[in-house]
Amino acid sequence: MSNLSIVPKRTADPAIALELLHQDGAVIFVAPELTFEGTKDAVRAVLGHDLPAMGEPVLIVAEGNNDKSLPTTDISYGHTDGFSYGYDTPDMIMLHCIIQSTGGGASFILDGYRLLEQMDNDPKMADLSNFLRTVEIDQSDPGMRSDFSRAVRMTDKGRVCIRHHRYQRAVEDSPDYEYQKAMLGRWRKSVIKASQEVDRFMLQPGDALFIDNYRVMHGRDPYPGDARRLHRIWMWSKDSFSVPEGMLGSDSGTSTVKYAGAIASEKY
Ligand SMILES: [Fe+2]
Repeated sequence: MSNLSIVPKRTADPAIALELLHQDGAVIFVAPELTFEGTKDAVRAVLGHDLPAMGEPVLIVAEGNNDKSLPTTDISYGHTDGFSYGYDTPDMIMLHCIIQSTGGGASFILDGYRLLEQMDNDPKMADLSNFLRTVEIDQSDPGMRSDFSRAVRMTDKGRVCIRHHRYQRAVEDSPDYEYQKAMLGRWRKSVIKASQEVDRFMLQPGDALFIDNYRVMHGRDPYPGDARRLHRIWMWSKDSFSVPEGMLGSDSGTSTVKYAGAIASEKY
């Protein structure tokens, strides 16, 4: 078992769920009402006192709706969500399992804080950790907000935010372009390796998986394009950097100022 593994505990008690979410970086809250309202109620139950903003829920389905979608038959490596919001990435995510796949589609979560700590303590990797903390890279989701910032940032209150997603790239007109590209290649390789090693768990219908999107990376195994259905909500707690202006979505297609109520384009 990789020591980067986080296998979330399951509870029907919202207060315990919140405690476990802060402690472990993820938790499964039992939420048997399988509607968008049920999904929002679960968020309110667990984070209600702590939550200035949440996006409208979106439905995540195998067929997706645009060319940014990953094929379900590919693994979704460890990543953080919400890159279309750029700097204001949501600090919490909830994935509510409605229908599970008939084969495959197991979830995994890896501890980004621990991964960073391991890099710091490894003479061969410490330079990468330093790069992630200090060098501004291009993290813009094409067609969405521009985002030139560090992969690892810290809030005023000292909360560390780690990001890893497929749009992270070297700044094109930078004199350090090749260096940045090489460092980001190592970053991706580290996350892929960790994604292959961490433990898996299966979400069951009614499982509401809450994730600390600043601390951990999440992913899922391949699955056939079947009836698998999840609801997703992106959230901004009082401990996030800031809450974006405008109507909030839970998908890159809806994370513009106006919420379009579309089906999710980024498959979990
Ligand atoms: Fe995701």
